[in-house]
Amino acid sequence: MVDLLTTPAAWPAILLERAGAEQPTDLDAATQAGAFDSLRRVIRNFGATGSIAIIGQSGLRGRGGAGYPAADKWRTAATTDAPRRYVVINGYGADPASATDRYLLEHDPFTVVEGAAIAAFAIGASEVFIAVRTEATEAIRSLTAAIGSAEDAGLVGLDVFGSGHDIRVTVRPVQGAYMLGEETVLLKALEGKRGQPEQRPPHPAERGLFGMPTVVQNVQTIAAVPWIIRNGAEAFATIGLADAPGTILIQLRTAAGDGIAEVPLGTPLREIVGLGATLPMGRSLKAILVGGPSGGILPAELLETPYAFEPLRAVGAHIGSGSVIVADDRTCIVDLARLLTRFCAGEACGKTIPCRIGTRRLTEIADRVVDGRPRPTDPQLLIDLSEDIVASALCDHERLTTLPLSTGMRYFRSELDDHILRSACPAGVCHPIAVASGAIS
Ligand SMILES: Cc1cc2nc3c(=O)[nH]c(=O)nc-3n(C[C@H](O)[C@H](O)[C@H](O)COP(=O)(O)O)c2cc1C
Ligand code: SF4
Repeated sequence: MVDLLTTPAAWPAILLERAGAEQPTDLDAATQAGAFDSLRRVIRNFGATGSIAIIGQSGLRGRGGAGYPAADKWRTAATTDAPRRYVVINGYGADPASATDRYLLEHDPFTVVEGAAIAAFAIGASEVFIAVRTEATEAIRSLTAAIGSAEDAGLVGLDVFGSGHDIRVTVRPVQGAYMLGEETVLLKALEGKRGQPEQRPPHPAERGLFGMPTVVQNVQTIAAVPWIIRNGAEAFATIGLADAPGTILIQLRTAAGDGIAEVPLGTPLREIVGLGATLPMGRSLKAILVGGPSGGILPAELLETPYAFEPLRAVGAHIGSGSVIVADDRTCIVDLARLLTRFCAGEACGKTIPCRIGTRRLTEIADRVVDGRPRPTDPQLLIDLSEDIVASALCDHERLTTLPLSTGMRYFRSELDDHILRSACPAGVCHPIAVASGAIS
């Protein structure tokens, strides 16, 4: 179990507003604290179109990584002619180093269920699937209990709030590798098929689950919805950045421990890193890995970068899984980038040749650099190969897999040159080189 980090009192709690409840699946306690008020207001007061308009005015963007405006998906799904529509909540949590979504599912399942029901009502869907990985047993238990009691109370299920609308919510445990978090793979898994990413367009909002318009939304994105309906689009839009409003969960890891925190979007990385335990005595911060295994490795000089979609992209990182990992001066950036690239290459599904072969070639080059067998042309080869891989991307995984090496080279180039030109590993991590150069005897 990961603990919550202490955050400044001035930071708003949107996603974790009710996550401190002693009994997260106690419906009475949750409804007394406001659970399902927003769903009621949406059905009785705002209507489907009005609700989509509110979400649009709030500026809510997807928290699952890409930052796509939620209301645009809802509008597309609602207006695409089809006999059925679906809402799928992506609670897979692909990154093993980040438990942010799982934390929310375990500690406030009602908010996720309510947000998903609002989305279903807004797009005219009567079926919601919440996909959770099978190992997340506590999240599955919590969700199942919450859905059961909400159904018994008529808050979801048949004829919700006497409106004539059915909104059935089901937990769907799914099991697979890293790629299962990608939305088109997840949809295939829910259909019981072998999962590989699909070319887009059409996007799932037009043609998704069983070929029907489907809104796929991350757990945190959907958990923000009841708060927005309750407090108003304007209140949400004033938190965070103008083009990335609201808050997001991060999981911070340092050598001294880790924890989850809700931070306003746009918070400088320095403040996020400052939420965690200090570095071990005598160590200094060398780099921050932002975005998970396919994230960017950023130097300490970029600590003022706002934690938000575009600012992170501009420096070669991304929000990804919400994971922020602090690396101290004992870290060899070349070795770190190699390990991350190897992980991502191993997770590529194999559908696209430049990704399947190219990411493995990247790993091999990085392997020979840390093994002390580099070629002088390796830096340029890494750059050219990464550009080719990005240019031929079928899904985001391909593009993102190049980030650890490309940011490693961009910000820590001298370390790569030390390995290649001087057969030296400044951190003393890469053994064959370090032994040869006398750094390790
Ligand atoms: C390799 C890969 C893994 C992903 N894993 C997740 C995941 O675990 N959870 C998630 O919500 N989105 C994940 N995504 C993003 C989803 O494809 C999709 O954009 C997201 O679920 C849409 O919801 P949102 O708009 O609310 O962010 C992943 C994407 C890729 C390329
Ligand atoms: S780009 Fe890579 S992960 Fe994506 S579909 Fe192609 S092979 Fe699979």
